Amino acid sequence: MNLNHSIIHTLTKYYPESLKISSLAIALNSSEKLIYTNLQRLKKQRFPVIISGNSIRLTLPLLSSLSIKQELAAKKLGEKITLFDSLNSTNSYAKEHLHDLSHGGLILAHEQTVGKGRLGRVWSSPIGKSISMSLILKPKNHIRDVSLLTQLTAAALTEALKDKVEVQIKWPNDVLVNKKKVAGILTETEFSGGKLSGIVIGVGINTNLEYSDFPDELHNKADSIREIIGHPVDPNELIADFLNHFEALYDRFIQTGDANPFLAICRDHSVLIGREMWIEENSNRRKAFIETIDKNGALVVTFLDTNQTEAITSTHFSIRGEDSYV
Ligand code: BTN
Repeated sequence: MNLNHSIIHTLTKYYPESLKISSLAIALNSSEKLIYTNLQRLKKQRFPVIISGNSIRLTLPLLSSLSIKQELAAKKLGEKITLFDSLNSTNSYAKEHLHDLSHGGLILAHEQTVGKGRLGRVWSSPIGKSISMSLILKPKNHIRDVSLLTQLTAAALTEALKDKVEVQIKWPNDVLVNKKKVAGILTETEFSGGKLSGIVIGVGINTNLEYSDFPDELHNKADSIREIIGHPVDPNELIADFLNHFEALYDRFIQTGDANPFLAICRDHSVLIGREMWIEENSNRRKAFIETIDKNGALVVTFLDTNQTEAITSTHFSIRGEDSYV
């Protein structure tokens, strides 16, 4: 761990209390001068630190690999965590370095400058306020349909969040609370010589954003856990919980090929099933009744114009409510 990460780890451990710079120097076996220089650097990078006199505190708990590891029960996932101050996108980094990353590796960043969403959208990840992570999977066995892993991820996120908020899942990759998006999933694959070289599960969670961090056009579509529960959440505990649930569901799926344990969670929390929604592809939109999610993770819908039932698997579709996001 470099000194910046050690400072952040220690301050997060003490959050929301403040610490004397002299105590921090002793705890980290460093000099006050060096600590002070690093604190100034963190401030310049826009980390949420407040220095008042000779005391220092964070206004939000921040990411720390060590804190995640302390909460981790998963054996393989999160075994190697790489945390960056800033990346263009954790998914892009993971894909570029896939060859050097092993199964279960986790790439994290305090901020993303060009975060990627589904369908080419932009995903905003301001410094210290959200979780941006990419999990590397290199399955030993063949996976019958990689898109099932997006459903598995949604289920693991639901399990990790459900003691804090009432989670809904908007197939295929959105996690919502009160019909507003709090997390998104972007699953990407890399092939080399026609062979799957790895899968990158990208997850963005709006943990500690404030309303003012969202652009006006997102106010009725997106929310953050902090705004919903009224206080900041510990991102490290949440990541560890997510990895623990992910590993349990993943190992079972790989061993048995049975997707039902996580698809059942997706069905139980679905915000779409049993409702009429607009299904949009390019400029074409049709109304459909959403029946269920089938055993392959496809969304089963009955189009109202033809009364035909189809299983939708394409990731090109957008699903919308009458005049709204859901
Ligand atoms: C979506 O809802 O459209 C998917 C959003 C996925 C965002 C995450 S943040 C971490 C990872 N890196 C990226 O660039 N995107 C994913």
